[in-house]
Amino acid sequence: MVPDRPAAARLDVVCGIIGYVGGQPAQSVVLDGLRRLEYRGYDSAGIAVLDGSGALLVRRKAGRLENLEKQLGTDLHEGSCGIGHTRWATHGGPTDRNAHPHVDCTGRVAVIHNGIIENFAMLRTELEAAGHELASETDTEVVAHLIEDRIGAGDDLATAMRTVCRRLDGAFTLLAVRADTPDVVVGARRNSPLVVGIGDGETFLASDVAAFIAHTRDAVELGQDQVVEVRRDGYTVTDFAGLPVDGKSFRISWDLAAAEKGGHPYFMLKEIEEQPAAVEDTLRGHLANGRIVLDEERIDEQVLRDIDKVFVVACGTAYHSGMIAKYAIEHWARIPVEVEMASEFRYRDPVLDRATLVVAISQSGETMDTLQAIRHAREQKATVLAVCNTNGAQIPRESDAVLYTRSGPEIGVAATKTFLSQVAASYLLGLGLAQARGTKYEDEVVREFDALATMPALIAEVLATVEPVRELAREIARSKAVLFLGRHLGYPVALEGALKLKELAYMHAEGFPAGELKHGPIALVEEGLPVVVVMPSPKGRRTLHGKVLSNIQEIRARGARTIVVAEEGDTDVRPYANHLIEVPATPTLFQPLVATVPLQVLAAEIALARGYDVDKPRNLAKSVTVE
Ligand code: F6R
Repeated sequence: MVPDRPAAARLDVVCGIIGYVGGQPAQSVVLDGLRRLEYRGYDSAGIAVLDGSGALLVRRKAGRLENLEKQLGTDLHEGSCGIGHTRWATHGGPTDRNAHPHVDCTGRVAVIHNGIIENFAMLRTELEAAGHELASETDTEVVAHLIEDRIGAGDDLATAMRTVCRRLDGAFTLLAVRADTPDVVVGARRNSPLVVGIGDGETFLASDVAAFIAHTRDAVELGQDQVVEVRRDGYTVTDFAGLPVDGKSFRISWDLAAAEKGGHPYFMLKEIEEQPAAVEDTLRGHLANGRIVLDEERIDEQVLRDIDKVFVVACGTAYHSGMIAKYAIEHWARIPVEVEMASEFRYRDPVLDRATLVVAISQSGETMDTLQAIRHAREQKATVLAVCNTNGAQIPRESDAVLYTRSGPEIGVAATKTFLSQVAASYLLGLGLAQARGTKYEDEVVREFDALATMPALIAEVLATVEPVRELAREIARSKAVLFLGRHLGYPVALEGALKLKELAYMHAEGFPAGELKHGPIALVEEGLPVVVVMPSPKGRRTLHGKVLSNIQEIRARGARTIVVAEEGDTDVRPYANHLIEVPATPTLFQPLVATVPLQVLAAEIALARGYDVDKPRNLAKSVTVE
């Protein structure tokens, strides 16, 4: 099958959005919500607030939210209905002019948007020909002007939104307010997330429940191609044709404290500390009556028995957890597994059929590359299972089964606790497949699960002894580059360590399989270069241990400064480690759960020593809802 054409337009954004109508000052509710959404994007921010007198106040500013707050100063608007936006631009630069909200020619309609409107160029030409003046370079602004036209034709705001959405191609969440109806916010969604928060005499709309968790835990999830009108006393949902539909209500299982920093200077540092709980919660309840159970299984067991191949598709850190899933699934369930970057998957026309299981791993459940990969897989009749941290996100919605990683909200842009949870979920999946296919006896599955259940305590042990890593980080913070080596399960750990260092400390960092070293990368080694080596366990696969030991000697002979992550009691490696980081002994497959933690701390501490904000690394956003 010929792969879909990649989207043509690239005036896209990955953003946080919030809308509010109720009894509180909208400006402070919206700004507070934006603060919690800022991890989604932080190139610019803006708000629009309405008051009963028919005034529409719009303020927007390039840079972080604090720039907008400074600009607002004492300019506190009294309105009780408003929308707000925090932006991550890829094109259409992060300027004041391109910041949202965008208004129509009359200045009476304001719109914010997350996603891409692929046919905006054609719409823009049409609008300009009809006399509209567009003030920004964004795709979003066309929506404000299209709504203006529909209102001119007599539509109310929700009807106008529906009509306009039918003309849009691409992925979008849109919110709009109109000065003439100061107690209504209208939202629309296609492919991008949007949830309604139901308060007492107040209603919220947001791309993520974190935006309104301080006010309510009752939420409604919107489906694909739906428009919602929210008022103080409730909401109405329709499809794009105007037919009424029901949203799916749910209660948010975490609270405000979970989304706050809890005494840590950065969310990321708190999230690293939360890893034992994240793994424990992810495992909880998945062994019932001696059997592994998934959260939402819509796959017949016979289908799992019949599959002859597994593809794991994911991006970034989630991809690294997929590499670990491969080891676990192949070892326990004896099915061939291929791990593939989701962004590459559908473009090479992979061989998929009814006997293929595609596992999509995604913290956000929104990553467009991964979403498109599973859509392609389903078109080819493959069965899709999602591993996801976000209840009801698009990827689990479009999958046949879901295994949720119960890490709670992860606000730091760099994934930490969700990585360990994804790894834990991968083990559950491996055991579940082994159980379904009978490649392990039931008591063996239970024994493995019980061993897995001891891992949170071992992760806590690592965290309790991680202080020397902080000192080490300060020492190597001025290095130009760091190499990471690992073998077998140590290889994905090395890749993850390198990725964390790149994204947080902006340092050149590469992960290699230790065995590949002699085939090229060893040329990079020079006097004083820090090289992190993840040692395999000295038990069991002794040959592998000996081989990595030889690799360490090879790099030391060429001047490398070795930082070795090794199992407690691995005395053989001690003479060759300039810095030894000991982690508790674990069953071989589970080593990534302990070995990754010091590397997360190392990256965070190096970044802090270099003066960077570890929660918001430059150029990144938490959810990447564009391809
Ligand atoms: C790295 C990081 C990213 C994400 C990737 C996939 O710290 O956070 O590499 O892992 O963008 O995101 P999800 O898991 O939301 O699909």
